[in-house]
Amino acid sequence: MRTVAVIGIVAMACLVAVAQGGNFFQDAEISWGQDRGKIVDGGRGLDLTLDRSSGSGFQSKNEYLFGKIDMQIKLVPGNSAGTVTTFYLSSQGSTHDEIDFEFLGNVTGEPYTLHTNVFTQGQGQREQQFRLWFDPTQSFHTYSIIWNPQHVIFAVDGTPIRDFKNHEARGVAFPKSQPMRVYASLWNADDWATQGGRVKADWSKAPFVASFRNYNADACVWSNGARRCPVGTMETAAAAAGRSGGWWNQELSDMSYRRMRWVQRKFMIYNYCTDLKRYPQGVPAECKLR
Ligand SMILES: *[C@@H]1O[C@H](CO)[C@@H](O)[C@H](O)[C@H]1NC(C)=O
Repeated sequence: MRTVAVIGIVAMACLVAVAQGGNFFQDAEISWGQDRGKIVDGGRGLDLTLDRSSGSGFQSKNEYLFGKIDMQIKLVPGNSAGTVTTFYLSSQGSTHDEIDFEFLGNVTGEPYTLHTNVFTQGQGQREQQFRLWFDPTQSFHTYSIIWNPQHVIFAVDGTPIRDFKNHEARGVAFPKSQPMRVYASLWNADDWATQGGRVKADWSKAPFVASFRNYNADACVWSNGARRCPVGTMETAAAAAGRSGGWWNQELSDMSYRRMRWVQRKFMIYNYCTDLKRYPQGVPAECKLR
């Protein structure tokens, strides 16, 4: 009797896990821009477009509380000045949490800026910006947010570029109790995005297109006030004790930490933690903690 019940649960959980393999028809909805957002390739892909009158965006149907969210993105090619492509997690309301990837376009031949930020309890201003070590418009690359109770890790093609740690013990808020949805958008921000707003979008090249593919949420789904985690998620210390690996307990190994530091040394172009002009009284607390 008991065995049967357990098998039933495992089978059901497997179905859930399969459904999380990422089909935009099942998992996402176009939230603005009407037909400027299009699901393509039988649900494997989603294209967002931007023209003079509007951009477009989509959001996940599910809300999540912790998970590893992967998105493959191919950014607007050619002259993408003024365009901003985003992929982020956000909860609702004025004290919301948010974890952002934003890609600021540029004129042909000049590099995109990858902008990252973390909001906790409605407070952001934790910008770090990077160059990419490849041309993000030539092919799809994987951008990941690993969000567990101790870390928010940003990764590009599996390489960590940023690790926002849980320093609640030292008075720094951490996103851990507000469920978040996944959002993505393509919009016009030519008043600030490219070279400080000096370069405007070239509408003769519109519509601009950014392509998304293979959305994957290995994540705890929030429903009816509770978290439903994928099978094998090491949510309890007891479960974790016997095993290793998995995003729930993920932190940077020595090697990943060294890779992240290498990326930061070579490719980081802005870091709020070192902006003493902005913080003459001293940088935020988390900047001084390791
Ligand atoms: C665009 O290119 C210029 C010149 O290389 C660079 O200074 C700037 O940071 C790039 N990115 C943006 C978003 O302006």
